[in-house]
Amino acid sequence: MSDNPYECDTLLQQYLVFHYATGAEQFPYPFGGADALDFPTRCVREGLDLEGLKPDSKALDLGCAVGRSTFELSRHCAEVLGIDYSAAFIRAANELRAKGSLQVKRLDEGAAHTTLDLKIDSSMHRERVRFETGDAQDLPAELGSFDVVLACNLICRLTEPMRLLDRLPQLVRPGGQLFITTPFTWLEAYTPRANWLGEGSADSFEGLRDSLEPAFILEKTWDMPFLIREHARKFQYSIAQASRWRRVDV
Ligand SMILES: C[S@@+](CC[C@H](N)C(=O)[O-])C[C@H]1O[C@@H](n2cnc3c(N)ncnc32)[C@H](O)[C@@H]1O
Repeated sequence: MSDNPYECDTLLQQYLVFHYATGAEQFPYPFGGADALDFPTRCVREGLDLEGLKPDSKALDLGCAVGRSTFELSRHCAEVLGIDYSAAFIRAANELRAKGSLQVKRLDEGAAHTTLDLKIDSSMHRERVRFETGDAQDLPAELGSFDVVLACNLICRLTEPMRLLDRLPQLVRPGGQLFITTPFTWLEAYTPRANWLGEGSADSFEGLRDSLEPAFILEKTWDMPFLIREHARKFQYSIAQASRWRRVDV
């Protein structure tokens, strides 16, 4: 059995619900929480300068998990590649791509589940999307470059974030957009302390900025809440720092 938590059924179910279940299916309460729903969709709709994208744009979604942002990108880009290290997540994303639907057992409490039918809206272009397993820290040399690169809640799950950050100037075309979100949840289980960003500067975001400038210009940064349901009465409410960067025109 894999020791990667993102291969287990519990996280697969949580991420399928997080990415594809409706707001009411995730959080059926009239108070709190609702501002943090639809995070993978908001990453595309709020994170990118969509009007600045040409119709033939190519996008890359790194750490795509089960793929909701990847499908959302297909509304705006001609080709979209989602890459994730988890084979279980990519299997589910590929099933959604092939069939346009998937059943998931949402945990309610104890051993009680509800079966949900998850669907890819027909306004998304499944034929424009590809999913692959891969390591964002060791991407193939021939991957090429993209008009849009997303790395949402990925950086603090990498062993060596600098290996990805150093590669980003090659991955994003001049004038292209890079959208990063991270709650900076540093844990030694994923990232040895010596590799946490910002150890040598004021904070994690300063570490991120130091590693992206001057190849990228920071366009804006803001807070983005997101909600992951564990069961009907337990939720993780986190606040990612979002930042959009523009690759300097060389
Ligand atoms: C916190 S989740 C975020 C997923 C998704 N981007 C989102 O915002 O919902 C982190 C994701 O990164 C993936 N991941 C972890 N290490 C990775 C690596 N080295 N290369 C690619 N993906 C990785 C995990 O499998 C997981 O899907």
